[in-house]
Amino acid sequence: MKYAVIGTSWITQSFIDGAKIHGKMILDAVYSRDEKRGGEFALKNGASRVFTDLDALASSSVDAVYIASPNAFHARQTEKMLKAGKHVLCEKPVTVTPAELEYLMDLADRNGVIYAEAIMYMFNPARDILRNALGEIGKITSANLDFSQLSSKYPAYKRGELPNIFNPSMAAGCLEDLGIYCVYPALDLFGEPENIKASAAFLESGADGSGNASFEYGDKTVTLTYSKLGQSRSYSQIFGDEGTILLESVSKLTDMKIVFNDGSEKALIGDVPKEQLMGFEADGFSKLVSSPGETKEFYSLLRKTALATSKAMEKIRSEAGIKFDYTPITEE
Ligand SMILES: NC(=O)c1ccc[n+]([C@@H]2O[C@H](COP(=O)([O-])OP(=O)(O)OC[C@H]3O[C@@H](n4cnc5c(N)ncnc54)[C@H](OP(=O)(O)O)[C@@H]3O)[C@@H](O)[C@H]2O)c1
Repeated sequence: MKYAVIGTSWITQSFIDGAKIHGKMILDAVYSRDEKRGGEFALKNGASRVFTDLDALASSSVDAVYIASPNAFHARQTEKMLKAGKHVLCEKPVTVTPAELEYLMDLADRNGVIYAEAIMYMFNPARDILRNALGEIGKITSANLDFSQLSSKYPAYKRGELPNIFNPSMAAGCLEDLGIYCVYPALDLFGEPENIKASAAFLESGADGSGNASFEYGDKTVTLTYSKLGQSRSYSQIFGDEGTILLESVSKLTDMKIVFNDGSEKALIGDVPKEQLMGFEADGFSKLVSSPGETKEFYSLLRKTALATSKAMEKIRSEAGIKFDYTPITEE
């Protein structure tokens, strides 16, 4: 499959490096707003073509597009590529609103192409290890899922700059960037909650810098915490009445173990390089394209979880007062 990338930041580089591991996705083209930057990025990664015009990219012969632009552009860029018959793997959050996501899923179906959210958790083989481990800790009573990572862009923000990630007009902020990594496993492992409560702390730019959400299930509460302004030094935990699962990262699912009530430990998985995790994502996506029959069930799960996540994120934003200067796309 020949693919193009939209965006030239480190995450695009990381995806390209990951895709090389399995070799099923061949980088053909780079889109950048800047020809020189796109040219340098293409040269470094062996891509033969550079586009600075999205319509030209859409009319080109690439089979698929990996979109890693700021969040506010995801839906419009995806719409353009799907209409042109390209398969799309788009970075999280795949759209701002669930209504946009439903429209784009339908558009993908009508154009006979695959459309998926680039979320490492769902493509990670360790997801099965984690799901199986839930059966080893007795009755699950609660969980704390945390993704708090001090942003490399925060010093620039403090100097008075406005990086995209702290700019509400880019549909950005902590929930969209990191909170989503907690929402995915909460919904995937425990299903949709009966109720969601949430709050956030805001920067002067209007973006949420940190926040939390409570997913209430009746028999348990799953607490989600996330911050771009401080670094977590502890594990996420899932508590059962016979043991506790510890996770170093809710997105990478690295360094996971069970500690049983008697203090004994069972290691589940150690460290996995980010490149390999992106490789799982690229490989999973290429299988959705090349073997639609075999992957039908997984594709359906991906879409169901993506939509449930988008709806939960919308509810969290409304509870926490997170607002963007953003106009959702609608079908014309
Ligand atoms: N899966 C992961 O682990 C992971 C990690 C980080 C980020 N992400 C996701 O990846 C996406 C990009 O994040 P990022 O931090 O890389 O964003 P970013 O650096 O702000 O922007 C990404 C790319 O978009 C283009 N861009 C920047 N500002 C733009 C603007 N105002 N208008 C149009 N295009 C613009 C730039 O490419 P050109 O200048 O070449 O056009 C840039 O390389 C986000 O959706 C984020 O959630 C995922």
